[in-house]
Amino acid sequence: MADARQKNRNDPIICSCNNVRRSEIMAAIEGGARSMAGIFDATFAGCGPCGGTCQPEITAILGGELARRGQIRGK
Ligand code: FES
Repeated sequence: MADARQKNRNDPIICSCNNVRRSEIMAAIEGGARSMAGIFDATFAGCGPCGGTCQPEITAILGGELARRGQIRGK
């Protein structure tokens, strides 16, 4: 139980509709995703029954990571 709590703290679920964790979004970016569509293609995050309420957080993660790398975000 403590291990699960620690994992959630270190690697939170960003898209609860599709059970996608932050580490999976980061892996998608590492794999070349440069847009919300690219993240969706790689993980299915951002499109679910809630209507995509996680998209702002995914966009923020993507933008922050690309800024950190000195890259530009795609459409
Ligand atoms: S939480 Fe990501 S689509 Fe619903």
